[in-house]
Amino acid sequence: MTAIHIEHASKRFGTVAAVEDFSLAVEDGEFLVLLGPSGCGKTTTLRMVAGFLDVTSGTIRIGERDVTRLPPHRRNIGFVFQNYALFPHLSVHENVAFGLRRRKVADAERDKRVNEALALVKLEGYGARLPRELSGGQQQRVAIARALAIKPDVLLLDEPLSNLDARLRHDVRQELRRLQKLSGITTVMVTHDQDEAMSVGDRLVVMNNGRIEQVGTPQVLYREPATRFVASFVGRGNFLSGKPADDLGSFVTASGLTIAAANLQRDHDTLLVRPENISMERAGMTGANCFPATVEVATFLGSSFETTLRLANGDLLAAVAPGSRATGATDWCAGDSVTARIDPQAASGLHAGSASNGTDKNDGRNNVPAA
Ligand SMILES: Nc1ncnc2c1ncn2[C@@H]1O[C@H](COP(=O)(O)OP(=O)(O)OP(=O)(O)O)[C@@H](O)[C@H]1O
Ligand SMILES: [Mg+2]
Repeated sequence: MTAIHIEHASKRFGTVAAVEDFSLAVEDGEFLVLLGPSGCGKTTTLRMVAGFLDVTSGTIRIGERDVTRLPPHRRNIGFVFQNYALFPHLSVHENVAFGLRRRKVADAERDKRVNEALALVKLEGYGARLPRELSGGQQQRVAIARALAIKPDVLLLDEPLSNLDARLRHDVRQELRRLQKLSGITTVMVTHDQDEAMSVGDRLVVMNNGRIEQVGTPQVLYREPATRFVASFVGRGNFLSGKPADDLGSFVTASGLTIAAANLQRDHDTLLVRPENISMERAGMTGANCFPATVEVATFLGSSFETTLRLANGDLLAAVAPGSRATGATDWCAGDSVTARIDPQAASGLHAGSASNGTDKNDGRNNVPAA
């Protein structure tokens, strides 16, 4: 069992609080993703787990062991750096063998493990090449093989796909996900790309200013974001300021719209409406949450139309409509008059502030017991 328990970890650099009171339990075999904007403390958190940085306060356990004061080489961690840091003068084989040599693994066993690791990343037969003789994606896979060869208890990946082009990124991330499930190694990956986070992570941790904003599965974060920050970081949305009506059955925007919505709370100050939850109907329709609108922009993307709608009161809403003929899609054009209908079940109330204002920020699975 190799769960990771991070309890109240903080890191200060002089007066900069890079990470503050970070508590999280990563389950055995889980693929966890740290997601957040530049400078929010993702790398710092990962480096504290690896032991490249000392914590200012707090504890870190890997499996049953308290590793808080152990140096990196005694934590049995595989680490893939953002720039994949292969040794340019060593062959692929020697790069992957590096950690095994340091651990004084016998020659025959070492070669076996290198070959296994290269097979896992589908690079059999590449052992003799130098890194410069490989594509970016292949180099990336060597870095992953090198991290896996030592049979780490935990795999830590810091933006491992950031140097790849969009196509390769997509392929390698599927590959990473497959490898992780195959090996069952508890994995923590850092990224600031939400698509990447959602496509590989069992759970995501959204960080902001050194703190956790929310932890949850991709579905929970997308459908039930705790804060406006999380909602804007995970997916696209329309954010309408205002407050709930007295009966909590609808939300009254500052611009004067009354929008029926489920699950509103008294202190919500923002209504989130995802673009796909606004359907575009023919003009003149009436009913709950129907608003007359004009199409300002319509962009055809093949499977969908991305549109910007202007409501009668001047509000702009982003909406996504189906693009496929098979679903009877309409071809929308700028200037079309339509009815925008907002799904009341899918419009959710939010607190604009940060989670540190007391919002329940967790999904209930990562409550760390008091030390
Ligand atoms: N060695 C250091 N000395 C001083 N401040 C540091 C140091 N390392 C990081 N910081 C600061 O700590 C904060 C968190 O940095 P960190 O590298 O963890 O961010 P990040 O989330 O990984 O960002 P990015 O997405 O840009 O890589 C930043 O404000 C950064 O400037
Ligand atoms: Mg970083």
